[in-house]
Amino acid sequence: MRRSPAALVAGLMLLSFAFAICGPETAAQRARRTKGKRATAATSRSARNRADATTQRSGPYEEALRNYREGVEPKVVNGKPAPAGTFPWQVAIGASEVPDAFYAHFCGGSIHSATWIITAAHCVEGLLPSEITITAGTNRLDDTATQRRVRRIIIHKDYGDLPHNNDIALIELVDALPLSTDGPIRAVPLLTLADEGRLLTEGAPMVVTGWGRTTERGVKVRDLRYLDNLPIVPRNICNRTTAYDGEITNNMICAGVLAGGMDSCKGDSGGPLTAETERAPKLAGVVSWGEGCARANRPGVYTRVSNYVGWVSACISNSPRCNR
Ligand code: ARG
Repeated sequence: MRRSPAALVAGLMLLSFAFAICGPETAAQRARRTKGKRATAATSRSARNRADATTQRSGPYEEALRNYREGVEPKVVNGKPAPAGTFPWQVAIGASEVPDAFYAHFCGGSIHSATWIITAAHCVEGLLPSEITITAGTNRLDDTATQRRVRRIIIHKDYGDLPHNNDIALIELVDALPLSTDGPIRAVPLLTLADEGRLLTEGAPMVVTGWGRTTERGVKVRDLRYLDNLPIVPRNICNRTTAYDGEITNNMICAGVLAGGMDSCKGDSGGPLTAETERAPKLAGVVSWGEGCARANRPGVYTRVSNYVGWVSACISNSPRCNR
């Protein structure tokens, strides 16, 4: 399908608007788009013409494909390069049809076990398992990394009931990852509600990692970056009228500095926000949304993992409690 220059310009304007509020727009649009369609999602998905879907939709997956086709170079704000071997639970989620893991990458994820990855619902909603590939065991996105095909994608059934709410999904791999306790591919334990009082207090230092943009208008990176000492912003502060004005539900946590300058960004979605403990780090959040990146009074918003510990174990044990 050929497009007129005017349509292209209009499309680009729309796209840059979506960038400005990465998350709010796409999740809200998706919530509207998918309302009432959940029961038939499987059939409508398989019937959908993918070519149309990738040009009309605006999720991270479609954006990675568009950038690749249009030759756009596909980044954590104020982060540092993560030395090889650090953050061994971080994975990249990529579009299977794009050969280079760097261009393919559109979201992050965390290793929960040898066959299960935790990510954001907005990263994988509406995608087929065959459309995505998981890259593990490397901080550099190139073709030497360990890759896995996907068997199943489980989106939280209440994703999007409120904007960005329950932004969590599970990805089951076809073949197990070679996990070890000291190698380059490791699982990260989930933070529990019992840990919260101790580890998620005001100002508690968190760590976020990703291959996303290093500035709001920047580009993605081939080498993983991390941001440490990212402080927890209590929900009541994050919900102030000067900040997110009530948009932060009990299923979200905020982390960042109100002065701005430290944040995750587009492309980091789905990836880990971890809390340091006396022993190994624990997964406290999933990169979910934010208005712009690193803006003042707009901290990053993360899915509150501790609320989903039961959901995760139900899903991976095939219990009906998973999506009921
Ligand atoms: N929604 C964005 C994505 O899909 C990133 C969200 C994080 N934004 C932020 N300002 N912390 O990659």
